[in-house]
Amino acid sequence: MDVGGGASRLVDCLLDSGYTDVTVVDVSEPALERAKRRLGDRAARVKWLAADVRELRLPGKVDVWHDRAVFHFLTEEADRAAYLDSMRAALRVGGYVVMATFALTGPEQCSGLIVSRYDAEMLRDLFGPDFQLVHSLERDHITPGGGAQRFTYALLRRAR
Ligand SMILES: C[S@@+](CC[C@H](N)C(=O)[O-])C[C@H]1O[C@@H](n2cnc3c(N)ncnc32)[C@H](O)[C@@H]1O
Repeated sequence: MDVGGGASRLVDCLLDSGYTDVTVVDVSEPALERAKRRLGDRAARVKWLAADVRELRLPGKVDVWHDRAVFHFLTEEADRAAYLDSMRAALRVGGYVVMATFALTGPEQCSGLIVSRYDAEMLRDLFGPDFQLVHSLERDHITPGGGAQRFTYALLRRAR
């Protein structure tokens, strides 16, 4: 499941790679519509959910929770707690979280909004003792305008 996937092309890549049970969640219906239009007939192979991740409650469990550039917009403690509750409700034990947030040296704002910045240890501590940090790295994301934004990527496994 790609959380806050919006119009991102990750879903295209997952379908290209043979994944068959893919869900994209985003609070923005127009963003989801852009992705659907781009995929054409292939859009029918994806579950699309227009929802606020902080209120997400799914009927089943997912294997992988992927978030690039959504969690870092949650700067209030209550919003982060609601997000983590949604993630716990959605992810099966043994499943993985792939998080990409602005790194400590990344931008302080995005689209005019203040963001929170993280390193991998901060993310591990936020997710708590039920999650193991499996792998992490930092990378520059090159924006369409050519600027570099430093991101932290963390792979966490839900142990219980
Ligand atoms: C910076 S974009 C990232 C899009 C995509 N993940 C990517 O990496 O290209 C942030 C996305 O998160 C969505 N978003 C923001 N707050 C959200 C929320 N509370 N619940 C669900 N989606 C949200 C926005 O609509 C937008 O599509």
